[in-house]
Amino acid sequence: MTVRARAHGKIILAGEHAVVYGCPAIACPLEIGVKAGFERSGSALRLNVDGAEISGEIASPLAEAFRLLRAEAANLGVGGRLLAGSESPPGFGLGWSASFSLAASRALLGGGEAVENQALELAARLEQVFHGRASGIDLRTAASATPLRFRRTADGVEVISFQPEKPIHAVLAGQKPSLTRDMVEQVRQFRDQAPEEVERIFLAIAKLVPRAEAYFRLGLVDELGLTLTANHALLRKLKVSTPELDELTERALSAGAAGAKLTGAGGGGCIIAVASEERIPAIHSALEKQAPFVRSVRLGAAFAQPA
Ligand code: MEV
Repeated sequence: MTVRARAHGKIILAGEHAVVYGCPAIACPLEIGVKAGFERSGSALRLNVDGAEISGEIASPLAEAFRLLRAEAANLGVGGRLLAGSESPPGFGLGWSASFSLAASRALLGGGEAVENQALELAARLEQVFHGRASGIDLRTAASATPLRFRRTADGVEVISFQPEKPIHAVLAGQKPSLTRDMVEQVRQFRDQAPEEVERIFLAIAKLVPRAEAYFRLGLVDELGLTLTANHALLRKLKVSTPELDELTERALSAGAAGAKLTGAGGGGCIIAVASEERIPAIHSALEKQAPFVRSVRLGAAFAQPA
């Protein structure tokens, strides 16, 4: 028998990086994430991702995650074959590692509500392998059926889920992958070198987040767009954008987007452009000329939480 599980991908609408240091951020689950299947057998755990067998012997975050899963399976006294399949590209800022971590944990532990807390706990340990000193926002979003506001607090995290009045139309576009772990580390080093400058940027980002949330909740796409573009300017100051990401945002704006920004860790990965529904096809085709990954999505549209 195969235990099947899935977890969502995510986009961050506002507040990435600053969220690692206690500022709020707004994130939204994406229907594209990672699916996993676990075929139990008497042998030690094996892992296959998108058709490739993963070796636990090499130095890579995925191999390290596999070693953790293998140790967990041995502790549980289970073995067999864990197969993961990506619906979104890894490294594109769409929460692949959180989605993989949660889908794999759910499948390994048997799936369903009864093991959900245990799966979240295991996924958090896996996510740390991929992301280092991350905030945990990706994992919370991978497990959520609705958008959320997330903030790290002294005693843990504060997560407020909300359902917008209507979905917001958006286009995602990305050219090349990047590693969240490296980008989080880059910002940490920048903060060590220039604490006051980075604090000022974080403070400015934190001021935008409640506005982004309110406009998202109310479906005010023009106002939301301006807020996202302002957030992108601050992420540029934080040195996590790239000329390619800046060009994609410019292209989206020229094609009629209400606003655009990089989403996630930056250094590569995706931009998100929001727009009224009728402008989406023009933005989609303008971005397709420049980016190998382009996807039109509806943010905040209800979708069923998979088992
Ligand atoms: C990555 O999706 C978002 C970051 O803020 C890191 C984190 O919060 O874990 C860059």
